[in-house]
Amino acid sequence: MAINVEPILPRFGAEISGVDITRPLDAATAREIVDLQNKWGVTVWRNTGLDDDTHVAFSRIFGHLELAPRRSDRPRFARPELFDASNIDADGNIVDNELVRLRKKGDRLWHTDSSFMEIRSAYSLLLCHEAPPEGGPTWFADTRTAYDDLPQATKDRLEGLVAEHSYWWSRRRAGYPYTEEDIDAKPSARHPLVHVHAGSGRKALFVGAHARDIVGLPREEGRALLRELFEWCTQPQYIFQVLYKPGDMVIWDNLCTMHRGGDYDDRAHRRDMRRTTVREGAAPQTPDDPFGDMFRAAEAADLAHVAAK
Ligand SMILES: [Fe+2]
Repeated sequence: MAINVEPILPRFGAEISGVDITRPLDAATAREIVDLQNKWGVTVWRNTGLDDDTHVAFSRIFGHLELAPRRSDRPRFARPELFDASNIDADGNIVDNELVRLRKKGDRLWHTDSSFMEIRSAYSLLLCHEAPPEGGPTWFADTRTAYDDLPQATKDRLEGLVAEHSYWWSRRRAGYPYTEEDIDAKPSARHPLVHVHAGSGRKALFVGAHARDIVGLPREEGRALLRELFEWCTQPQYIFQVLYKPGDMVIWDNLCTMHRGGDYDDRAHRRDMRRTTVREGAAPQTPDDPFGDMFRAAEAADLAHVAAK
């Protein structure tokens, strides 16, 4: 079966068709799909026919799947690998409260999923089960081509720099009441600002909303540099948006892209999106939920924040 590839931008993003991904794939086809993903950074799959089980099964061709943090006593689905990225609860009602508003603001910032973790997330596979009639896209930015196009003097300046990433920093930016001192006391992770994207051998910027400071630079100078890089990467020639219909799936590689959620009327319309996430590197020896303790602590702080309002 021939796989069709329609590029979205000249070097970034492609719509893929011509292969039934609801069925187990032979090794050669799976390899071809992973290679296409590594080349294009974002792939869009229309009308896949995937359900929860086949979504998870297909995702495994990319590597080890993270277990999603349990954010509710009543998750909407049984598979522990599925992150709930919807605006609805277990009864199908639209969730509309202060926490949801804050989360939404966080999702609107350009970010890379889980860059605040020591071991990073590589691929995210987001499947649409229900879409609003208008809006609700995801935007993507190409951090490899953006790096390629930087002036040489900037590339030289970035060489060897390391950024500190914090989950609580991006939440502060989204409006949560954390002080700099609060964030200092929380876990964070350090990653080089520029790295070689293993899947393609190309260099990529690794930035996003969780990036708080540059190690060894004065705080203001580091943040100014981070702002400059965000603005550079999100210029029109490096970005595009994907709008969803039920059954559509987008796969992005967090190690060579940034993404952000786009607007829709989330008080009037349901948007049911479910995500699997593939961890960088080899599978751990035992099943684990790397976010468990951290997300539970964050959730408790969120509830306290809402209660205090
Ligand atoms: Fe995300």
